[in-house]
Amino acid sequence: MSHSDNAIVAEELVKHFGDVRAVDGLDLVVPYGKVVGLLGPNGAGKTTTVRILATLLTPTSGRATVAGHEVTRHPDAVRRSIGLTGQYAAVDEYLTGRENLDMVGRLYHLPKNYVADRAQELLERFDLVEAADRPARTYSGGMRRRLDLSASLVGNPRILFLDEPTTGLDPRSRLQMWEVISDLVKEGTTVLLTTQYLEEADLLAEDIVVIDHGRVIAHGTSDVLKTSVGGDRLEIVVSPGSSLDDAVAALVGFSDGAATADPDTRRVTSPVSGGSTVLVDAVRALDTAGVKVDDLALRRPTLDDVFLSLTGHVAEEAPAEAPTSRGRGRKGA
Ligand SMILES: Nc1ncnc2c1ncn2[C@@H]1O[C@H](COP(=O)(O)OP(=O)(O)O)[C@@H](O)[C@H]1O
Ligand SMILES: [Mg+2]
Repeated sequence: MSHSDNAIVAEELVKHFGDVRAVDGLDLVVPYGKVVGLLGPNGAGKTTTVRILATLLTPTSGRATVAGHEVTRHPDAVRRSIGLTGQYAAVDEYLTGRENLDMVGRLYHLPKNYVADRAQELLERFDLVEAADRPARTYSGGMRRRLDLSASLVGNPRILFLDEPTTGLDPRSRLQMWEVISDLVKEGTTVLLTTQYLEEADLLAEDIVVIDHGRVIAHGTSDVLKTSVGGDRLEIVVSPGSSLDDAVAALVGFSDGAATADPDTRRVTSPVSGGSTVLVDAVRALDTAGVKVDDLALRRPTLDDVFLSLTGHVAEEAPAEAPTSRGRGRKGA
């Protein structure tokens, strides 16, 4: 594996916090100019990985280079090449948007005029001009994230770490953030993006690395990952009067694997093969079992299915308070 041709290379990376194996032998390669999505549920080890690569944490073992520099031996050189937007926006509440950017410029010892111009350019670009001279504590969540991202771009880094850039944002702010990130990528910035949203990884990242418990459990393009879990998915919504267990039992005969039931949405999903006759067979089997359904459809596997088939649990719907809480319902469409 070449450490100079790739923006980021991690080999057998390990980080233990006491008994917790936050990162447990993780391998990762991010070529220059690409976006790689590090996808995993809460507690999977995403932030720990990013913090090691950004030189904020020392790994227990393993090796990583960023922009060709070994992270533990040449942290300063690494820091000069990267920008980091953390999971929780690191914005000074009492400074204005512009002052926040100026401060970052000073931390990096960049020339004053350069920083002033760059700040203006970033404020314009991220739709923050009107708010530029107000204290950041008056900003909405989306504005804070955009300011935080601007701050990570002041030094014009070649490599950008985005740690869950849209977690907790409302749908409109999320869309706005996605546009901003897509633009950066089009301009050739290398991005390591962590997310627990399958949709986000699907949309922004060419390569997706799925991690759980600090290890890589799959990687590939979204299409490759979807194909890897096999055929189509039969999805039914069981009517309130009927039993989910009966529905699962009725589908056993022609499922390719175990059907899963979500009591919250009353949705039963089952991997199937056999094309269009599956639908007819399913209707017949459910009818025979006396199960009434509100909806029944055949669809291509989504990344949710990939996740479920790899980990045995569904991805988080919303950011959970408890770092290890998992699988509490499926993500909306
Ligand atoms: N400073 C720390 N001390 C102890 N445990 C930690 C620390 N940071 C993270 N962890 C634990 O390591 C695991 C991975 O955490 P993290 O990297 O934050 O996951 P993610 O970002 O994917 O949600 C979790 O079990 C978390 O509780
Ligand atoms: Mg995290």
